[in-house]
Amino acid sequence: MSDTFYITTPIYYVNDMPHIGHIYTTVMADAIARYQRLNGHRVYFLTGTDEHGQKIEKAARSQGIEPIQLADRVVARYHDLWRALTISHDDFIRTTQPRHQRAVAEIIERITTAGDIYKGSYEGWYDTRDEAFVPDSQVKDGVDTESGHPVERLAEPSYFFRLSAFADRLLEWYRTNPDCIRPKSRYNEVVRFVEGGLKDLSISRTSLKWGVPYPGDPEHVVYVWLDALTNYISALGFGSDDDARYRQFWPASIHLVGKDILRFHCVYWPAFLMSAGLSVPQRVFGHGWWLQDDAKMSKSVGNVVRPDHLINRFGADALRYFVAREMSFGQDANFSDEAFLERYNADLANALGNTASRTTAMTDRYLDGVAPAPSTDGPIPEAAATAVARYREHMDALEPHRALEAVWQLLATLNGFLQERQPWSLAKGGDSARAELESVLYCSLEGLRIVSILITPFMPTIATELQTQLGAADLPTNLDDAVRWGGLPAGTRLKDARPLFPRVDIAAYLKEADVESKPDTPAPSPAEELVSIDQFAQVKLKVGLVTEAERVPKSKKLMRIMVDLGEGAPRQLVAGIAERYEPEALVGRRIVVVANLQPAKLMGVESRGMLLAASVDGDPFLLSVDGDVPPGTGVR
Ligand code: MSP
Repeated sequence: MSDTFYITTPIYYVNDMPHIGHIYTTVMADAIARYQRLNGHRVYFLTGTDEHGQKIEKAARSQGIEPIQLADRVVARYHDLWRALTISHDDFIRTTQPRHQRAVAEIIERITTAGDIYKGSYEGWYDTRDEAFVPDSQVKDGVDTESGHPVERLAEPSYFFRLSAFADRLLEWYRTNPDCIRPKSRYNEVVRFVEGGLKDLSISRTSLKWGVPYPGDPEHVVYVWLDALTNYISALGFGSDDDARYRQFWPASIHLVGKDILRFHCVYWPAFLMSAGLSVPQRVFGHGWWLQDDAKMSKSVGNVVRPDHLINRFGADALRYFVAREMSFGQDANFSDEAFLERYNADLANALGNTASRTTAMTDRYLDGVAPAPSTDGPIPEAAATAVARYREHMDALEPHRALEAVWQLLATLNGFLQERQPWSLAKGGDSARAELESVLYCSLEGLRIVSILITPFMPTIATELQTQLGAADLPTNLDDAVRWGGLPAGTRLKDARPLFPRVDIAAYLKEADVESKPDTPAPSPAEELVSIDQFAQVKLKVGLVTEAERVPKSKKLMRIMVDLGEGAPRQLVAGIAERYEPEALVGRRIVVVANLQPAKLMGVESRGMLLAASVDGDPFLLSVDGDVPPGTGVR
């Protein structure tokens, strides 16, 4: 087996800020990369951004900025987020970089030389959200029946790639490399798709400008997927004067992608590479989707969970652990605050944090904070060896959730062991119990040290913190050496411990989150902070005069008010202001109302608009109007 390991994430579109679905691919790639480094492999880990195409051009235009300005903003956000999540990538490729554009030109030249490109014209449907051409048979009433996305009709000159000629070679590749696509269900899907026959693929566009210029024909730009997929080799220096990395690391050991983009990676990409005379990747792994309420988390559905709040409140490692453990790698999973908090308390605060703090506190109290002589008594050495073996097996089989299960099984055994052997009673037993006390505490400390090594790929910061607390920060970190029983030397002085994961009061947290008025409170993101004057003008703000007000029965927060907006009859609004305002104090006030908001029902009472209030720690402070301005006057 080669000692190099090349792992990639998809490159992310820059029309949107990252949500949990996006961070998942990168966090899992990071865990795999870190695991391979622990195994002594020379790892190259690549991530980056996909910045061209119609989707980005449109998004930038709607914000009144240039596509590159939008890309720069979102890229800065990705860099911040990857830093916050301690992602250990070796490179970050942007498709707007000259090194990438050079490589795209080079691969097209090779495919052209191979005779696999011809000029024609494309007439058909296009799905901008997926940047994909959609067959006529799959479109009904302007919607792609597979993805549910709206499509638009294109008719333009185009270069075509002879994809149809590659079906047999692709099928042969799948057949002789049954592990090249994982999990197995996805492999079968791809094989069925290719067996169904392949059509030639349009690889250039003339109706947009935001892309890599097509070599030798600048009226065209390169189709965004051919452009994007090439990132995996452009980042290694393919097509440049210095392609040492390309020669060292290509083909990729694994392209980690979401299942929605499997076809691009398992059909188009290998076909481009085969045509260009380059090696195909060793493996593509298609993971499942994060859902909320059983729907795929996505900006267009409006059900996204942004990672910022969870990272700030619970730490990057808690979020990394949760996504790695909760989702069976390859399948879909639902994200909910409740599931996150339950795992946080049970697995992190309790099983890991408590076991660590009890063990270090007892070593401190009974053994002056110094590790005793190594011991192999009792069940822990064997339990640790079993955990290490299962962990390795599952990590190698790309089942990280099961590898974590094995570690938590060891923690459960450790906990049971402490409960059964009761070091606190042994400590009272005088000299005769001293040897047993030392042995029990040694086994617990050493078990925890091994846990700290095994969790490194998933929780690098906490792993280091735990090793520091155990006085084991400078011990070997190569997996084989690090997990050998007895690695913690006698006489090691433990460091002061702080709780690794303070317990969370779930009910209080959920209440607090509720007051902050979820479901959709994405952290403000740079690209969303700026709106164009046209976007702002879409919100109709008007002065309203309150004519009636009363509390909504059975609600502490809600007030029903009638407001004159100069429309003849007053309108009914429901607002969460009843904890700060008395109904009588509202009547006669001039307030500011969003007049063109879609109606909504709150506790069964219809609200046709929304009043504006400043929110200080969840307390509303009404905006009022300075002077007797007539009701219905516009506000801008
Ligand atoms: N730009 C393309 C990839 C080009 S790779 C040569 C793209 N970008 S994306 O930003 O839309 O998606 C990036 C990754 O995030 C994909 O792997 C996608 O599957 C993943 N996810 C986006 N939403 C997701 C969930 N709700 N759940 C899990 N992952 C999903 O596609």
